[in-house]
Amino acid sequence: MIQYEKVTGDFRLDGKVAIVVGGAGGIGEATARMYADKGAKVVIADCKDTVGEVAASIAADYGTETLGIVCDVTSAESVKNCVEKTVERFGEINVLANMPGFVELENAEDISIDIVEKHININAIGVFRVCQAVANQMIKQGKGGKIVCVTSQADFIAIDKHVGYTMSKAAVVGMIKVLALEWAEFGINVNGVAPTVVNTYMGEKAWQGKVKDDMIQKIPAHRFAETDEIAAAVLFLSCKESNMITGEDLVVDGGFTIY
Ligand SMILES: NC(=O)c1ccc[n+]([C@@H]2O[C@H](COP(=O)([O-])OP(=O)(O)OC[C@H]3O[C@@H](n4cnc5c(N)ncnc54)[C@H](O)[C@@H]3O)[C@@H](O)[C@H]2O)c1
Repeated sequence: MIQYEKVTGDFRLDGKVAIVVGGAGGIGEATARMYADKGAKVVIADCKDTVGEVAASIAADYGTETLGIVCDVTSAESVKNCVEKTVERFGEINVLANMPGFVELENAEDISIDIVEKHININAIGVFRVCQAVANQMIKQGKGGKIVCVTSQADFIAIDKHVGYTMSKAAVVGMIKVLALEWAEFGINVNGVAPTVVNTYMGEKAWQGKVKDDMIQKIPAHRFAETDEIAAAVLFLSCKESNMITGEDLVVDGGFTIY
């Protein structure tokens, strides 16, 4: 059962232990900073070796405890190590923000199967591997938990040259629904946040020049999103204010998928 807890509208995470996978930059770092600001102890997990620096910077800025762990979601050993190190340091895991991401754009008729597999291995199977490892820890703790995966507007709408990325992100939407169904009895909420283009390394890699200008025209808000706007949606789905929401994929797209 997912318990009712009196809602204050403060979106606090005091005393919670949160892992942010893909947390070394972009939306992940913005989420980790927002979690820290709301009182959480934060683990930055990412395949980048800058995790320690990001964790130290967040600890200094918010006065909270943090830890950086190098973690490659394509490796079962690496994900296991991430969960073990977190529990060793903080005793438990209460929140998972799961957003490692890879994108390589190509026409469907030309894209190599290796690149399609890479999307699926990182964005879908890697994301599931982390959900499974963390949920098993949460189930063992017996206190429920929150899992939020960052998906994409590509879950809902066809985007040129996005076939590999879309296959991987659409898989996560189905995964979220099944995990939400199966893990509600353990008090675990599982949700997604589906952004439009966000001003990050990935956003800039995928959207440049004319395609960028055309895309901005098509988004009713007429701009791309900023990382804190996505982090705010992830935060909402990470605290007690959203206990009654599970299996959802919350679109944050300035209206792009209205059409
Ligand atoms: N930026 C956008 O326009 C946009 C739009 C929709 C969804 N998203 C999604 O948001 C999430 C965050 O992306 P971002 O925009 O902040 O980009 P980003 O490139 O800044 O962040 C992605 C992070 O994932 C990490 N990562 C990649 N492969 C990994 C692996 N195997 N193991 C562990 N970590 C790995 C990277 O090192 C990086 O820090 C991704 O899941 C992405 O697909 C981004």
